[in-house]
Amino acid sequence: MIKYKEKFEKMRVAGTLASKTLDMLTDYIKTGITTEKIDQLGYEYIKDNGGYSAPQFYRGFKRSLCTSLNHVVCHGIPTDRVLEDGDIINVDITAIVNEYYGDTSRMFVIGNPSVKAKNLIETTYDSLMKAIKILKPGIKLGDIGNEIQSYVEEKGYSVVRDFCGHGISNTFHEAPNILHYGKKNTGLELYPGMTFTIEPMINAGKYDVKILNDGWTAVTKDKSLSAQFEHTVGITENGYEIFTESVKGYSKPPY
Ligand code: MF3
Ligand code: CO
Ligand code: CO
Repeated sequence: MIKYKEKFEKMRVAGTLASKTLDMLTDYIKTGITTEKIDQLGYEYIKDNGGYSAPQFYRGFKRSLCTSLNHVVCHGIPTDRVLEDGDIINVDITAIVNEYYGDTSRMFVIGNPSVKAKNLIETTYDSLMKAIKILKPGIKLGDIGNEIQSYVEEKGYSVVRDFCGHGISNTFHEAPNILHYGKKNTGLELYPGMTFTIEPMINAGKYDVKILNDGWTAVTKDKSLSAQFEHTVGITENGYEIFTESVKGYSKPPY
């Protein structure tokens, strides 16, 4: 076991590369670009900066990042689809540097999406940040889920149940699962040195999802819009650290 300060140093390096990749991509994620081109740019940036993309070859994924458009909840596969005015898209990056992982995603708006879409994105971002702000040793995993669920349901949205955040360090997905719904004061108690993601997927309609025939793409069953933001965080002696904060201040749209 390495001491947690050393682990945090490595998480910071990997997390920063992941967030800088999103920062770099921000200038390109506009009308006319294909999701394949976003994949290629992200792949090269990570490689050129001393890391590699975790999704590449992860359980047969074959691309280096996820692009989830409109009613796609998560794990969208980059294709020759061109981004169009009114689209909303999540881009999810996982970089590995010196064996440690940084996992982060943000929403991007293309041209002028509907007010409905913008509100969904804003609420999803706020739910993630509200959950992060309560992090400290002694709270429980259910407190995180409750913070997100109570906030988004109040606004009439729903929390996806079929995917969750996860422990992360020198493996991509590890225990514990971080549910984005739940009851206060239930579940595992947080302790200094824990590192995990919080990545709420919030639907404008019902929370049910289905997986397309490609075996990856998760979409809302009712075809309603879905949004997601993700940070990799660590629990400190008296609070938390976010490893994947934007270096350029690009935390939520408009960028
Ligand atoms: N980055 C995703 C997560 O937040 C996982 C993507 S797995 C992939 O956990 F294979 F689809 F890339
Ligand atoms: Co993740
Ligand atoms: Co991710």
